[in-house]
Amino acid sequence: MAERWTLDSWRKKPVAQMPIYQDLKGLAQVERQLRTFPPLVFADEVRNLKEALASVAAGEAFLLQGGDCAESFAEHDAENIRDVYQLFLQMAMILTYAGSLPVIKLGRIAGQFAKPRSSPTETRDGTELPSYRGDIVNDIEFNSCARMPDPRRQVEAYRQSAATLNLLRAFVSRGYANLDNVYQWMSCCLKDSPQPRRYVEFVSGISQILGFIQACGLNFQNRPNLNISEFYTGHEGLLLPYEQALTRMDSRSGDWYCTSAHMLWIGDRTRQLDHGHVEFMRGIENPIGIKCSTSLKPDELIRLIDILNPNNQPGRLTLICRFGADRLEEHLPGLVRAVKREGRVVVWSCDPMHGNTVIAVSGVKTRPFDRIVQELRRFFAVQAAEGAHAGGVHLEMTGKNVTECIGGARAVTEADLNSRYHTFCDPRLNAGQSLDLAFVLADLLREQDERKAHGGKGLPTGMRADAEPEQTGAHLPSAANF
Ligand code: PEP
Ligand code: CO
Repeated sequence: MAERWTLDSWRKKPVAQMPIYQDLKGLAQVERQLRTFPPLVFADEVRNLKEALASVAAGEAFLLQGGDCAESFAEHDAENIRDVYQLFLQMAMILTYAGSLPVIKLGRIAGQFAKPRSSPTETRDGTELPSYRGDIVNDIEFNSCARMPDPRRQVEAYRQSAATLNLLRAFVSRGYANLDNVYQWMSCCLKDSPQPRRYVEFVSGISQILGFIQACGLNFQNRPNLNISEFYTGHEGLLLPYEQALTRMDSRSGDWYCTSAHMLWIGDRTRQLDHGHVEFMRGIENPIGIKCSTSLKPDELIRLIDILNPNNQPGRLTLICRFGADRLEEHLPGLVRAVKREGRVVVWSCDPMHGNTVIAVSGVKTRPFDRIVQELRRFFAVQAAEGAHAGGVHLEMTGKNVTECIGGARAVTEADLNSRYHTFCDPRLNAGQSLDLAFVLADLLREQDERKAHGGKGLPTGMRADAEPEQTGAHLPSAANF
């Protein structure tokens, strides 16, 4: 019998990755203030997302989750938000067309501020200071004042999240993202890019469908459903005092909803069964993600699922796998088999970013595009071999033309990394690399769709692990074959 859950029952458990605040009075005051603030998202929206994720778990939709590794106070402008939103919609259009499935769009945005760190302190030139833990906790500048955790930053994070959501909601409700517009952005983006002809054919395929829809007398004015802009938000639910303060009882159902975002996930460093993060998440109704790495054993995963989803509610849990391209085949099959054997309903999502981080010669973190592609291919191949549905992806990406990950069609090289390396934490795919990846995903989704159409029998060639190109970059477009 589980102990009774209360809003603050997590406080009686050990918690990892929590900042140590000196100003406890200030922290209590901020928590009181946040408790009086309006919710950022609403229970009905959260329920809609859960239903949408239930359809992903059933193999009837696909989840596209992505955004910054860490949002920052310094880079909060309309252009950034618009660019990543446009990128999401373009990727979703490509994936919908290829997979013949609705795509659920879930941004790491409007709240993705708290970061777990591998070390509590950072040392530079002999000076040791607390690590940067995200703008909601402290400042990235390397001096003792900046690195001191400041509770008032939680209020700033709340206000920034509200402003971001305000703009996103305006984009959604103003029909900014109707099919026609998204198609125009995509054509513009691809016009001057070094994409092979196949991609151009893809875009013209979508154009023909749009022409057909219009010829049937359907357009955005008379069918607002042709607006594909529905958008949800999520972040790592790391800073529990903040999450608790924004958790409210829904007056209709009497259930607790965390209103800081539609979805929260538990990071790889905070998913201990008997710790505070799992305790807090078990009592809220939001869809929950669990990051799964090589350190997660199948029986531990089943115990986590028991705690977080005892009633096996579809859409409640998304397992976000982040093993690294080289280690996925060793670890993923065991987890998929255990979940299947126990009859648990989950969304299987692939985070091909966090297990593929390397240090460039210049000392900055980067991720090779080829490794990201390789992990995705292997993820789809394992899911196919196990008879499960590859339900989603979880990416770190931005709509800007940054140079943080290497490779892609318009290849970013190691030498380019310093020119536009802006991330506050991990390296992100830039807009071009994200679209490149969407086309890779499109092929994988199409194969998954064909396999389903054949009753799941036989694997199309591209999905067999033995058919994988030695060098995954080999199939990628290069300027020469356009
Ligand atoms: C992240 O998603 O930015 C992150 C820190 O991931 P993980 O918990 O998987 O390391
Ligand atoms: Co990250």
